[in-house]
Amino acid sequence: MTKDTTRLPQLADILFSPDRDAAFARLREGPAVVAARYFDGTGVWLVTRYDDIVTVLTDRRFSSDVTRQTTLDLASATGLPDDVAPYFTHTFGTYDPPDHTRLRTLVSREFTARRVQRLRPRIQQIVDELLDAVAGAEEFDLIDRFAMPLPLRVICELLGVPAADQERWHDWSRDLTAPDPERIAAGARALVGDITALIEEKRKAPAEDLLSALLQVRENDGDRLSAHELTSISLSILLGGHQTTVDLIGSGTFLLLTHPEQRERLRAQPDQIPTAVEELLRYAGPADIGVMRYTLEPVQIGGVTIPAGEAVQVLYATGNRDPRRFSDPDRLALDRADNPHLAFARGPHYCLGAALARAEGDIAFRGLVSRFPRLTLAVHPDQLTWKPGPVRTLGTLPVRPGPSRPGSTGPAEEPTSWS
Ligand code: HEM
Repeated sequence: MTKDTTRLPQLADILFSPDRDAAFARLREGPAVVAARYFDGTGVWLVTRYDDIVTVLTDRRFSSDVTRQTTLDLASATGLPDDVAPYFTHTFGTYDPPDHTRLRTLVSREFTARRVQRLRPRIQQIVDELLDAVAGAEEFDLIDRFAMPLPLRVICELLGVPAADQERWHDWSRDLTAPDPERIAAGARALVGDITALIEEKRKAPAEDLLSALLQVRENDGDRLSAHELTSISLSILLGGHQTTVDLIGSGTFLLLTHPEQRERLRAQPDQIPTAVEELLRYAGPADIGVMRYTLEPVQIGGVTIPAGEAVQVLYATGNRDPRRFSDPDRLALDRADNPHLAFARGPHYCLGAALARAEGDIAFRGLVSRFPRLTLAVHPDQLTWKPGPVRTLGTLPVRPGPSRPGSTGPAEEPTSWS
């Protein structure tokens, strides 16, 4: 790619555009692969079409390891202090095989569908508690009272964060998404400090939680997880599993409220909710872009030859609305049957927490539609503000619950702990 990138389109302008749907639609209609400028001004190739995105995600000529490219200074692009930046730049998602395969094998046994199935009653209990707390209110902010605390509590409990400390973890999670670099840096530092301290606690007193299980792997398997890897994996689980799920629940509820006839159908047929969750993921999936990939050798894709060592960014947002793969892609169809969306990616980096996110979405929407059948937006949709970024989230979602139906919205099962 040319060294002078000043005339190329800015990825930031697309992601932060006031009308992102229109910006993505324009990209979708253009060439399959577009030369653009990354946040720090360096060159990046944007891959916009479904089939090409699948190729980038599954072809071993594309690496996820930031150290194997020459153009981008990701450490400085994050703007984080040097002592914590490596934990955020060298996350689980940026390892290549064989290291990635080794780590993934160790961690994925803690994330199987069976494990998640055992967690469902506890997720249900948290959903019920959160909905109980807002029943009777005239109006409440669905992001602050439901979409935000649900995934954070699930992840904190899963990792083994003591209940008394969880409020502090809420604080830094707010800092990390604040529009203020100093708050972000402070939040990042506090988070790394808290995770390191928690790992130390679990080492001294193992419990029935994921972190203790991962430490056990480390002890039993002759240090196969290094201290950095353990901190970095815990961080990836925490960060990967939080904001994305907040967005699924927040944007998903917004879409249900602005498509009342489809919402009503779901209320009448709650067994359709898992299918609806898949469509919400496709139509407004939380991750608009992927983790950056780099070409290990020259690769021809979408009619362009990308030289070795260059940065490649897949756009899940355009792939998920590619008319070559999805019929009527700009229509939200909660009963869409053929829906192999890319919201959780593909290939070796396929989302580790997909089963958990699906379970949370299913239980959350089931709870909302059955408990508050007359839930409505408290403001006009145009008054809502979206926080821009790779995961775009609603800042607030003021809603009026209307009359509530009493009681739990799920099966009466005994909650179990993670292990
Ligand atoms: C709706 C919710 C979620 C969405 C849309 C989502 C999306 C994604 C995507 C697109 C990737 C691949 C990124 C890439 O390589 O380009 C990914 C990876 C990952 N996700 Fe999720 N995620 C969600 C929830 C979760 C949850 C709940 C967890 C953990 C509890 C989690 C943990 C991870 C981890 C650790 C990775 C890295 C996997 C690897 O590189 O092998 N995610 N996720």
